[in-house]
Amino acid sequence: MKPAARLEVAGMRDKVAEIWEEVCVGSQASPLAEYIQTTFTVEDESLRWIRQETARKGLPSIHIQPQEGAFLRFLAAVVGARTCLEVGTLGGYSAAWIAGGMAGDGKLHTVEVNLQHAEAAREHFAHAGLSGRVEVHVGQAIDLLPALAANKPYDLIFLDADKPNYPNYLAWAADHLRPGGVLAAHNAFGYGGKVADESVTELAVQRIRDFNARLAEDGRWTTTIFPAGDGLAVGVLRAAG
Ligand SMILES: C[S@@+](CC[C@H](N)C(=O)[O-])C[C@H]1O[C@@H](n2cnc3c(N)ncnc32)[C@H](O)[C@@H]1O
Repeated sequence: MKPAARLEVAGMRDKVAEIWEEVCVGSQASPLAEYIQTTFTVEDESLRWIRQETARKGLPSIHIQPQEGAFLRFLAAVVGARTCLEVGTLGGYSAAWIAGGMAGDGKLHTVEVNLQHAEAAREHFAHAGLSGRVEVHVGQAIDLLPALAANKPYDLIFLDADKPNYPNYLAWAADHLRPGGVLAAHNAFGYGGKVADESVTELAVQRIRDFNARLAEDGRWTTTIFPAGDGLAVGVLRAAG
């Protein structure tokens, strides 16, 4: 390749990396990011209301981003989700995105340890007409798993709390999803990419790193990572044999 052509290819690569960074990873405003936001990842009125009401009630602003919500809704629709589990409800924003993709008779069980968050989410689900489709369970998710096992098999499991237990949730998901069911885990980048920095030893990041490695290397899963927000690691459970 001629030097000029090589330079052009390198320039294109830089441009693609820049767009990737803007649209998929960061939340910088750009015409393309805005185009995507107003075309594919549009919040409907009740999603916007839940997000705003969550903030108005003073709950922490640690919900997923709309691109991630639209992806979760897409996953729920792809698997024809009837039985779903979420770890980490907060005000119910991600749950409402998931519910938007579930089958008409689908049910989402969502677990929240903080009673104030759980009560806010219940109120939000009632307002959004989702009370019959989303059930909030209050307690430490790891302690509620034995009771939640009764709903097996799950079609979709979404993890968004309690990072130190991510490897335990992964093991549980492999036993409680149906073949073809999907596991999605938020913060797969470990809060802004810390998973890639081996010098970071904080427990949550170590366990996310461990979770990512196990998910990627365990032959039972077909996996990838969706690089929006803080990263969604996803795996589809293969049929046994
Ligand atoms: C990151 S927020 C969830 C955000 C939510 N998924 C969304 O995007 O709208 C995490 C939530 O999980 C709750 N939580 C933390 N540890 C938990 C645990 N061990 N079991 C259940 N919930 C937990 C927190 O109180 C908080 O409300």
